[in-house]
Amino acid sequence: MEISHIKLVPLLFFFLLNSVCSTTSNSISESFVQCFSSRIHSNSTSKIILTESSSDYTLVLQSSIQNLRFLNTSTPKPQAIVTPHQNSHVQAAVVCTKKVGIQIRTRSGGHDYEGLSYVSKSPFIIIDLFNLRSIDIDIKKERAWVESGATLGELYYAIAQKSKLYGFPAGICPTIGVGGHISGGGHGGGGSNFGVIVAWKLRLVPVPPIVTGYMESKTIEEGATKLVSKWQAIADRMPQQYFLRLVIQAANGTGTNGGKTIQVMFNFVAFETVEKLLPWMQENFPELNLDQSTFTEMSWIESALYVANLPINESQVLLQRTQQSRVFFKNKSDFVTEPISEAALEGLWKAMLELDSLQLMLTPYGGRMSEIYDWEIPFPHRKGNLFEIQYVDNWVDDKETEEHIRGVRSVYEYMTPYVSKSPRAAYLNYRDLDLGRNKDANTSYAEASAWGLKYFKNNFRRLVQIKTSVDPDNFFRDEQSIPVLQSAKK
Ligand SMILES: Cc1cc2nc3c(=O)[nH]c(=O)nc-3n(C[C@H](O)[C@H](O)[C@H](O)COP(=O)(O)OP(=O)(O)OC[C@H]3O[C@@H](n4cnc5c(N)ncnc54)[C@H](O)[C@@H]3O)c2cc1C
Ligand SMILES: *[C@@H]1O[C@H](CO)[C@@H](O)[C@H](O)[C@H]1NC(C)=O
Ligand SMILES: *[C@@H]1O[C@H](CO)[C@@H](O)[C@H](O)[C@H]1NC(C)=O
Ligand SMILES: *[C@@H]1O[C@H](CO)[C@@H](O)[C@H](O)[C@H]1NC(C)=O
Ligand SMILES: *[C@@H]1O[C@H](CO)[C@@H](O)[C@H](O)[C@H]1NC(C)=O
Ligand SMILES: *[C@@H]1O[C@H](CO)[C@@H](O)[C@H](O)[C@H]1NC(C)=O
Ligand SMILES: *[C@@H]1O[C@H](CO)[C@@H](O)[C@H](O)[C@H]1NC(C)=O
Repeated sequence: MEISHIKLVPLLFFFLLNSVCSTTSNSISESFVQCFSSRIHSNSTSKIILTESSSDYTLVLQSSIQNLRFLNTSTPKPQAIVTPHQNSHVQAAVVCTKKVGIQIRTRSGGHDYEGLSYVSKSPFIIIDLFNLRSIDIDIKKERAWVESGATLGELYYAIAQKSKLYGFPAGICPTIGVGGHISGGGHGGGGSNFGVIVAWKLRLVPVPPIVTGYMESKTIEEGATKLVSKWQAIADRMPQQYFLRLVIQAANGTGTNGGKTIQVMFNFVAFETVEKLLPWMQENFPELNLDQSTFTEMSWIESALYVANLPINESQVLLQRTQQSRVFFKNKSDFVTEPISEAALEGLWKAMLELDSLQLMLTPYGGRMSEIYDWEIPFPHRKGNLFEIQYVDNWVDDKETEEHIRGVRSVYEYMTPYVSKSPRAAYLNYRDLDLGRNKDANTSYAEASAWGLKYFKNNFRRLVQIKTSVDPDNFFRDEQSIPVLQSAKK
């Protein structure tokens, strides 16, 4: 991801006196609304602030919740939801939250795996940025200004409306918010630690007119284990214009015994024509017996739908902001620096067959990811990583929650010897509270290192220093926020 610049509302410069708050929740939201109205000089804030008595409160609260684990009657609810229409509303919300002495949760697309953008144990408000989602594309300058509340799908669609020869490299699922995705995947070190990011300036990248897609599944009976080994051997050294990821899951058997099996799906998009791609595939994966007919040529925008398993001729689907179906889920992540042996893979298949519902997504590293030094931006997972594993489990019955979470954790445990060590690295955007959490506003550097070093490696110390200097009161915080160095505080 290429981000040259971000616009951070300079909210950290409002150091207001914290008025001590020992009031009931009703009057907290009243004081908040009063403060907000006076700052934006308007008495008609009912469209901007939703309190529990507003008719839209529940609808808006639930609108972008992705994980059903954080949508039930005992999930803590915000005192108010602010839905800013302009930047000054964001500033007023921050100032007034600080004034009434409660917490802030900022939400763009609501995809946080652990619900941190909309749940907090202490009293809080949500700033929901869905109204701030303008996208301004300038093809001549190869850049876009995108407000945080836009989704990736809206961004991809807007680029394609302007040009078929530009794109932007980001996540697969189109409903993801730009705000959380970019701050966790690149710049910013987790936006929620430092303020509210209202817009991003992105550098667009040229894409060819023809992109090629390939998707096919093989079971272990059909030689999938060997294919995974071959993939591992070249994952980080494939040509830069190739993105070949694997999705692995249990499936009902097709073999003679009809039992369950493991299925490996090749999910491939290459910035190349079939003619050029085919010889490369035949050389590297001869056992797939490929010919021209297995590939599909398409435009870049169609490929954005293709990798997400959506119909490629229906690009308006990218504009749908909500997921068709929501589930309970638990995902975890790992980075792999040495190929995993076939014996170890077989043990993994065995564990997955027992669990049935677990999916693994293997994303290749190398390419552009390795060209950026690990200290250049907070995202540290660079050269030396072959690929990333995401463990994904979802279910639809809340009674199964504990069993599924136990299952994901047991496979993660099994994988310990085969993945990165000291630290066992993790991807911030696949937020995982199993790695640890802040006990309170005074969590120490050593305690927060439990997850901080996994997400940021050596950049963690620098992020703590920045945090300490720009937000010494630790106002912007959550269960896994970057801590403030206590010794530096007066
Ligand atoms: C179904 C699904 C598919 C996914 N697919 C991919 C994928 O293909 N690739 C990938 O890399 N990731 C993927 N993710 C992970 C995704 O990138 C992260 O969850 C990302 O943080 C979501 O951003 P959001 O704005 O939707 O989330 P939110 O829940 O709104 O925010 C996530 C975090 O960022 C903070 N934040 C949000 N907006 C702002 C802002 N404007 N300023 C400051 N802080 C902010 C929040 O407070 C929270 O801490 C997926 C997630 C889901 C649920
Ligand atoms: C808002 O209401 C208060 C009290 O009712 C009034 O004094 C104030 O002038 C009003 N402000 C605006 C901007 O209308
Ligand atoms: C309800 O949500 C909370 C998180 O807000 C979670 O801890 C709890 O387990 C959920 N309860 C049920 C029954 O799912
Ligand atoms: C296998 O088939 C059964 C019965 O149709 C179904 O309930 C189960 O979910 C399937 N399992 C997988 C892994 O697809
Ligand atoms: C996309 O293709 C499907 C199947 O070929 C067809 O039914 C549908 O109408 C097409 N949609 C558009 C928008 O062309
Ligand atoms: C995380 O889990 C959810 C639910 O299973 C899944 O839909 C999503 O695709 C996973 N994340 C990614 C990046 O694949
Ligand atoms: C953090 O520590 C300070 C002083 O060291 C104390 O005043 C404050 O109450 C503590 N905050 C929390 C949330 O424990």
